[in-house]
Amino acid sequence: MADRTDKVLSVENLVINFRTDHGILKAIRNVSFDLYEGETLCIVGESGSGKSVTSKAIMGILANNAIIENGSILYRGENLLEVSEEEFCKIRGHRIGMVFQDPLSALNPTVKIGKQITEAMLIHSDKLKTMYNDLISDDLIRYRNTLARMNIAISTERKKLEALEAEMKSRKALTLAQKAEDKLLLQQKKAAFRAFERETRAKYAEEAKRCKAVLAETKKRAKKQVAEYRRKLTGEYREKTRAMRRKLALSSGPEEKVRVKAELAAAREKFEKEVRLTAAEAKAQALQLMKEVGIPEPEKRYSQYPFELSGGMRQRIVIAIALAASPEILICDEPTTALDVTIQSQILELINRIKAERKLSCIFITHDLGVVANMADRVAVMYAGKIVEYGKTEEIFFDPRHPYTWALLASIPDVDSKEKLESIPGTPPDMIRPPKGDAFAPRNPYAMNIDFREEPPFFAITETHSAATWLEDPHAPKMEKPRIVSERIRISLEGAAHE
Ligand SMILES: Nc1ncnc2c1ncn2[C@@H]1O[C@H](COP(=O)(O)OP(=O)(O)O)[C@@H](O)[C@H]1O
Ligand SMILES: [Mg+2]
Repeated sequence: MADRTDKVLSVENLVINFRTDHGILKAIRNVSFDLYEGETLCIVGESGSGKSVTSKAIMGILANNAIIENGSILYRGENLLEVSEEEFCKIRGHRIGMVFQDPLSALNPTVKIGKQITEAMLIHSDKLKTMYNDLISDDLIRYRNTLARMNIAISTERKKLEALEAEMKSRKALTLAQKAEDKLLLQQKKAAFRAFERETRAKYAEEAKRCKAVLAETKKRAKKQVAEYRRKLTGEYREKTRAMRRKLALSSGPEEKVRVKAELAAAREKFEKEVRLTAAEAKAQALQLMKEVGIPEPEKRYSQYPFELSGGMRQRIVIAIALAASPEILICDEPTTALDVTIQSQILELINRIKAERKLSCIFITHDLGVVANMADRVAVMYAGKIVEYGKTEEIFFDPRHPYTWALLASIPDVDSKEKLESIPGTPPDMIRPPKGDAFAPRNPYAMNIDFREEPPFFAITETHSAATWLEDPHAPKMEKPRIVSERIRISLEGAAHE
């Protein structure tokens, strides 16, 4: 598993509600997950489970009636839920790109394809600013990562403490002496945590201070360097045009005036080009991007409108737009749901190829566990606004633990017969009044009494795999997976062994 410092994005304890006419809808109920550099994390779950709300929270495009009750979204050590609007705009669409489910509504119907791509590039158009950002980026990231490491260290310890406290609360039928013992232990742990937090802050404060000082120096130097470069360019430009302007002032004939004016314009254009991305450059880059995402005849498509393209081609354009600002993270929210099956696999292939070529980290959202197998390194299974199982792809497919994951696996159409074997019976819960306990209990044939009463904590299966189901409690009766699921796992494992 990747090292903690390889995290590019970290969602922690996210809680999001919506104000509605019928009451408060609890859409995201304490969601945490990490995205590691270069991996694809799939978020899978039925419609309404909170997948899109999660991705919109990361992009900062939640609806107006959303209330972020709790949590943080750390990107390179910065909490996206706290950064200024201006900073957020820089990150969103710049460092994080998004591909939506419906390509038609993601595109502006009245603007030509080419313009929509070049507009997305404008973020990069100021070359001197880009130069400055490039000069300081290493030190900036080092500084932010220091803060991130500190926050991660502290929050890991805090989580342990919270888990202990929760576990103590859930203990039943304790004697008074045991209760007193627990209380004492908790007090000791709390004191130890406070000491740890103090020490950790002190330890990192040193490093952070050093990084900050280095960053300040680098910024100063970068500013100077950029200013010098600008001065050089402007100097050359002035020098060159001084003679022309004099000529223009002294010139007699109208013919000469026209010629000198043209010379001046050319010099001006050359100067602009060194400072700013020109229209011609933007177009060349857009065509290159269109080629990269597999659009045939990009020149022709460049000046067409979205309606003139097929659904699959439109989705390729949406992907090109997401790539225009060279993001580091790509979020794809059901990017193939609106497309025909044959086109679907082409788009999935394209996303996988681009991800590898550009070394992107990817969050891929789908309701179809069948798609996950081809895309994911790791999987988060979501139900009713929570993650119920989280692990590496092979852990989710070959050793699933939550009955909801079983149900999803059972509902994947069989590769050979192509028929849907079982759809999940029942309906997703009402999120204004979400059920107590395990939200899946009312639809879960394996539900135990406790599932209707108490929320299951996450049980660790391996270091990388955990599931929030009481079935993993050491006291729970041993439950066999449904036959159809174990049968499929057996067949896939045999298939893998023969390969
Ligand atoms: N703007 C909104 N106002 C009220 N409820 C919303 C809003 N957006 C989403 N929801 C609700 O939040 C829950 C999660 O939705 P969503 O994330 O879109 O699900 P999905 O997993 O299908 O993407 C659903 O119950 C949905 O009805
Ligand atoms: Mg959705």
